[in-house]
Amino acid sequence: MNTATVLVLNGPNLGRLGTREPDVYGSGTLDDLRSLLADDAPELTVDVRQTDDEATLLGWLHEAADSGDPVILNAGAWTHYSYALRDAVALVTKSGGTVIEVHLSNPHAREEFRHTSVISAVASGVIAGFGFGSYRLALAHIRRIGR
Ligand code: DQA
Repeated sequence: MNTATVLVLNGPNLGRLGTREPDVYGSGTLDDLRSLLADDAPELTVDVRQTDDEATLLGWLHEAADSGDPVILNAGAWTHYSYALRDAVALVTKSGGTVIEVHLSNPHAREEFRHTSVISAVASGVIAGFGFGSYRLALAHIRRIGR
């Protein structure tokens, strides 16, 4: 295990977890997610962030490209159409870094526009449909392989 920090990056509207469509996204908040992941990986710094600003998310991915820190990414709706985000994910993965795309819901079981992810093809892997379990599975993978 040589990973010290895992970045858990969340895009638009995910700061409203807990009250946002709980039937779809569950009733847990981002703080609940933060504690769950910290408990899962006490040996790591699990840095959970959220932004509604696309430029900020791009900056965090650039930071990951430089640091080599593995990333768990829930890009929210940007997943479906942001080519800038796709390019930033590629920048990380094509230089040997890890970006695991996660979703709380299963976008394939929802509206048609959610069936397309412009980032999946350049992500290291994709986990969707398990609520906070999607993040926990991604973190378990990173812990197991060490990056
Ligand atoms: C989401 C799915 C997206 O379609 C949606 O826009 C979100 C959340 C999920 O975690 O299930 O904001 O990424």
